[in-house]
Amino acid sequence: MELRHLRYFVTVVEEQSITKAAEKLFIAQPPLTRQIKKLEEELGIDLFEKGSRPLKATEAGLYFYQHAVQILTHAAQATTMIKKINSVNTSVKIGYVSSLLYGLLPQIIYLFRQKNPEIQVELIECSTKDQVEALKLGKIDIGFGRLPISDPAVKRLLLRKERLKLAIYKKHPLNAYQEKGVYLSQIVNETIFSYPNTPKPNFSTTIQAMFTQLGLIPTKWTEVREIHMALGLVASGEGICLIPESACDIGMKNVEYLDILDLEAYSPVSLSMRNMDQSAYIPKILECIEEIYRTENISTNLN
Ligand code: BEZ
Repeated sequence: MELRHLRYFVTVVEEQSITKAAEKLFIAQPPLTRQIKKLEEELGIDLFEKGSRPLKATEAGLYFYQHAVQILTHAAQATTMIKKINSVNTSVKIGYVSSLLYGLLPQIIYLFRQKNPEIQVELIECSTKDQVEALKLGKIDIGFGRLPISDPAVKRLLLRKERLKLAIYKKHPLNAYQEKGVYLSQIVNETIFSYPNTPKPNFSTTIQAMFTQLGLIPTKWTEVREIHMALGLVASGEGICLIPESACDIGMKNVEYLDILDLEAYSPVSLSMRNMDQSAYIPKILECIEEIYRTENISTNLN
């Protein structure tokens, strides 16, 4: 059985017709019918219900279809990855989560562009979760994110552990802790705005996991679309929220930012890349990250 045969079979299932599948595959109908028959003989089972119109896959056919789609997807991903690894690096597509824009991402990209004018940079907003698939499909070449997602096809480098801050309305009673800082146990009964409300895992999952790790269960937890909404609600005196330290630069009016004293209160910033990727832009971007960290006095996990 060859990949081409799986592609024929998948197309027939999706088109529910030999005629339409043959057109889509740019082959004649008789050889396509023959190939499907051969596949059924090889597997020793009917893949389609005889005489059904539109053509319907049997239960075994549907089972085989799901696996055939996976095999074809993996083959396509492997091809993309190998082509990318071998290509000359004149461009780099960088995936990033939006909260990094408030921090060091702009400086790092600017420096990279200054030092490597021959490399074209494309920035693509992409959640950490989606970066894994985007790397495999070649939609991005590297990804900057905030989640410890692992996948055998992707290598992840922890760049640093960014401290989290607590955002409160300026007249909130917790503002008495401006100097000292607060423990997360002091906020479990506050209304906490978390973000984003996109499919999990996301930044909100990390924050929730941090409370769980400390044996704490927040009682009033509301997820909103994005950081600006969370901070806007904090500025209205509706509740509080946790944000990465660099996002304090958003500078929302009437909002104060307190240190969080628990050691667990950090957000990991990481760089993801395809496994085995030896592209020249990777050490070059790491060099820029280290330079900006040095300038900003930020301790890193890189060395
Ligand atoms: C950082 O904030 O540490 C960071 C942001 C974007 C890319 C790399 C690092």
